[in-house]
Amino acid sequence: MVEVQTRIAPRKRVAAMKEYYPPLGSRKALRLDFNENTLGCSPKVREALAAITTGALTMYPEREPVEAVVAKNLGIDPSLMVLTNGVDEAIHVLFSSFLDEGDELLLPVPTYTMYEVYASATDAKVVTVLADDSLAFPQKQILAAITPRTKIIAVANPNSPSGTVATREQLLEIARRAPQAILLVDEAYFHFYGETVIDLLGTIPNLMLTRTFSKAYGLAGLRLGLLAGPVALMQWVRRVLSPYSVNSVALACLPAAVEDTEYLSWYVGEVIAARAEFASALDKEDIRHWPSQANFILTEIGAQHKEFVRLMSAAGILVRDRSADPGCEGRVRITIGTREQMKKAAAVLRGTMMVLRGAGTTPRTQKES
Ligand SMILES: Cc1ncc(COP(=O)(O)O)c(C=O)c1O
Repeated sequence: MVEVQTRIAPRKRVAAMKEYYPPLGSRKALRLDFNENTLGCSPKVREALAAITTGALTMYPEREPVEAVVAKNLGIDPSLMVLTNGVDEAIHVLFSSFLDEGDELLLPVPTYTMYEVYASATDAKVVTVLADDSLAFPQKQILAAITPRTKIIAVANPNSPSGTVATREQLLEIARRAPQAILLVDEAYFHFYGETVIDLLGTIPNLMLTRTFSKAYGLAGLRLGLLAGPVALMQWVRRVLSPYSVNSVALACLPAAVEDTEYLSWYVGEVIAARAEFASALDKEDIRHWPSQANFILTEIGAQHKEFVRLMSAAGILVRDRSADPGCEGRVRITIGTREQMKKAAAVLRGTMMVLRGAGTTPRTQKES
C-alpha cells in the first residue's frame, strides 16, 4: 500500500496519546485473559438471534423499547438510563459531555485502563491516586485529592485488575464530599459481588452508574452496556450519545439475555464457587493473590511473569499480564470460569510453577488433561 502523506495534525492531546492495542490475536484456547463469560451467553439469546428479520436489519435501531425492558429488570425508571455500545462508549460519552479544559478526572489506580484513554481525548487533567500494596480502595487519599476542579471521580466497583471493592459507605462519603463532581460507579462486575448503589440512582444528585452485558451475560461481542444517573445529568449525555450506536442485532438479543435470570444465576454461582476453589489452588502453590469480588483473581507471579504467561498460553490457558498497570509489576490477572475449567487451569498452573521453580517438569497441555 502506498502511504499518502498529510500535514493535517490531530489535537495535541490526541497526538500525545499512546495507541491502545488489546492483546487479542488468536484466542483458540481457554480464554482467562479478558474477564469474559467463559461458556457463552444464554441459549435464549441464540433463539432471539435466529429470529431476527430482514426488516430489523434494514431499519435504524430503536433503543427505547429495549431500554424499557432493561430498566424494568433493574427496577429503575427508564428516564434514568441509556443503553450504550458497551460501557466503553458510556465512559467516552460521559467524559466528552462533562470534562472541560481545567477539569480534573480523579482515578484510584490501578484501575480499568480505558478511563485514562478516554480522558486523554478531552482537555481535562487526569489525577491518579495509587493504592497501597494491599490494593484496598484508597479512600483517605481519594478524599484528600478532591479539589474544586474535580469533575468526575471514576470508581470501578469491583475494581479491575485487583478485584477489590469500595464499600457503599465509602462511595457515599465521596459523593458527599465532592458535590461539584460526578461520582461514576462502574459496576461492570456487579454480578460476582452482589452489592450495588443502583437503589440510590436519582436520589443522590451526583451519582452515576454503569453496567455491562459483556461479563456475566456473555455478550462482549455484541457490545452492550448502560449508563444511568439523575435526569438532570442524563439530559447532557443524551445530547452527545449517538442515537444509533447500539445496533439492531444487539437490541434484538438483549431482552432474551436479561429475562433468562435462571441462566445468569447459574453461571454466576458457578464462577463464585470456582473463585473460592481456585484461590485455594493458588494458596497451595504459595502464590500471593488479592481477595476478589469479581470474575478474576490478580496473582503475584514476580520476575517470571512473562514466562508464566507464555507457558500458560502454550498449555492452552490464556491469562493477562498486568505488569504495565501502576503498582502491578509482576502481577498476572486470571479470569475465573466454571469449576471444571478452573480445575484444568489449576492443573496447568501447577505444572507451570514446577517449570518456573526449576523442577524440570513440563506443564500439562490442554489436550493431555
Ligand atoms: C471495570 C470495567 N468497566 C468497563 C469495561 C468495559 O466493558 P464493555 O465491554 O461493556 O465496554 C470493562 C472491561 O473489561 C471493565 O473491566
